[in-house]
Amino acid sequence: MSQTAALLGGTPAVTAATPSWPLVDQETLAEITRVITEETLCPVGAEGTQGEFEREFAALHGRKYGLAVNGGTAALMLALHGAGVQPGDEVIASPFTWGASVSCILQNFAIPIFADIDPHTFTLDPDSIERRITLRTKAIVVVHIFGFPADMTRIMEVAQRHGLAVIEDCAQAHGGKHAGRLLGSWGTVGAFSLQASKNLTGGEGGILVCDDREIYERAMSMGTHPQRLYAELELPEFREKIDSLAFNYRMHSMAAAMANTQLKYLEEWTLARGRNAQRLYDAVRDIPYVHVPDPLLETDRHAYYNIPFTYEPGVIPLSRDEFVEALKAEQVAANIYVKVPLYLRPRFQNHDYFGRGYPWALAPEPIEYRKGDCPVAERMVMVEFQVSGNYYVDEPELMAQIGAAIGKVGEHAAELRAWFDAKKAQS
Ligand SMILES: Cc1ncc(COP(=O)(O)O)c(C=O)c1O
Repeated sequence: MSQTAALLGGTPAVTAATPSWPLVDQETLAEITRVITEETLCPVGAEGTQGEFEREFAALHGRKYGLAVNGGTAALMLALHGAGVQPGDEVIASPFTWGASVSCILQNFAIPIFADIDPHTFTLDPDSIERRITLRTKAIVVVHIFGFPADMTRIMEVAQRHGLAVIEDCAQAHGGKHAGRLLGSWGTVGAFSLQASKNLTGGEGGILVCDDREIYERAMSMGTHPQRLYAELELPEFREKIDSLAFNYRMHSMAAAMANTQLKYLEEWTLARGRNAQRLYDAVRDIPYVHVPDPLLETDRHAYYNIPFTYEPGVIPLSRDEFVEALKAEQVAANIYVKVPLYLRPRFQNHDYFGRGYPWALAPEPIEYRKGDCPVAERMVMVEFQVSGNYYVDEPELMAQIGAAIGKVGEHAAELRAWFDAKKAQS
């Protein structure tokens, strides 16, 4: 048996350094300096480096248009607006995600309707989506959570059958693929975050990509400076509305410089993330209290924003939360991502977002969110855990140590149980 568990005073199992992220190297710093001294600090138009980034990022995804903004939340909000979501529309959403995947619906005064998730990928289940569609449904927000590719083939079939827009929330999925095609290239609009923890980052920032001129112009009209609108808008319905009444969702020029410099490494980094995840999965495959996800199809590619697992309760005498606490003490960047499905949280239970019951007050019939609405999501929040971190270079030693830490906690489960019990008795 390995030495004492770190939570009980032993030496942590992980001693190898975690790669530093975001990467602020000489190449990035030189480009940031060039952009802020030779270009501008405030890119109100699509010229210069920001425009180059928009074009490169859109082209990588086989898209006609890219619109850089100041965050993933702004990209999602504009994506829905651009796709024509209007107050009172229903939009199908995932209950197992970061709030911004759903706040973008509320911020458009539309009404989130939650569909259940697939127990293997944590992403929206196409059959559950279809069961939630009504005459008022306008769009679906699909989240490639943790970098798991959602089943875009089936989701697009459902959407096309019902005439719905599909917004891909790719905040955690840069470089991931479904059926050989990059995530963000499938839906009506792909929306990405470039926040500091993300697989491609500008420190902060976001970008949306799409093919439809009208969607691009409508999104731009709601989020950018009139100077850009005068330069770019072609459609008369949007040109006549040029003014300064839009949101200010502009990207900072330093964010554009950083993301644009690092875009060329995304493929290499994504492949290394995949190799590291496989190393870790291989190291723990035979440990009965953790499950590694089923292998993806050959043509799919996980982006591994995080390395997700599920915990099998009852195998060792620790709850999932205690297991994760013990792992953290071993210096593993372990986390639980979603503890409560979104629809069971107070804002949804109490219809309390903007006040006065809006946007739900716009629904012709009362909308209620109940326990049991999405049984798979309710089960997954009890068992999911992940190893977070940006493992974008090959890290065989670090992955072996994280694997050993997962094993070590199990070996010391009885002592840890006694420690947790004693702690509980004291409190
Ligand atoms: C799935 C998901 N969607 C949207 C966002 C929002 O992105 P941002 O923080 O850039 O606004 C995040 C950020 O963590 C995210 O993880």
